[in-house]
Amino acid sequence: MREIELSTKVKVCRYEELSSDDRTLVDAAREAAARSYAPYSGFSVGAAVRLANGEVVTGNNQENAAYPSGLCAERTTLFWANAQYPDAAVEAMAIAARNANGELPVPISPCGACRQVMLEVEKRYNRAMRIILYGARENYIIEDGIKALLPLCFDADFLE
Ligand code: THU
Repeated sequence: MREIELSTKVKVCRYEELSSDDRTLVDAAREAAARSYAPYSGFSVGAAVRLANGEVVTGNNQENAAYPSGLCAERTTLFWANAQYPDAAVEAMAIAARNANGELPVPISPCGACRQVMLEVEKRYNRAMRIILYGARENYIIEDGIKALLPLCFDADFLE
């Protein structure tokens, strides 16, 4: 039997250590989180993406009394960005979350369904996105795209 090892590189830093581009995107995600509609979970998530055309697009989670009808911040943001600017690749995405106690000290990671959508977006534009996960105490930066968070992923290659 053969074994393969799958590894993920994550850079960890404080907010003050972020580059100004990353900080701008993180701040946009934090502001978006504050505008989310999350009356059922009380858990607000914001996302911001920087597109190849220079636009920054933000979004947040939108919940619903019929729970599964709601949508996560990451997908709300990506679907909106791709709907408005179908020709612009997504260069980077920042994600931030808060609850009733304020911003979370540690970063949250996108859920599985959002990771799958992020993968589709990378494939669509043939470009890996920089992912910045914000936490008040520390931030995670994934430089080489969503595959680092979705090993052994399923994409359109299998449909050929
Ligand atoms: N949520 C997101 O928006 N993004 C994530 O990455 C994780 C979870 C939302 C979904 C739901 O509205 C709330 O957070 C609690 O799960």
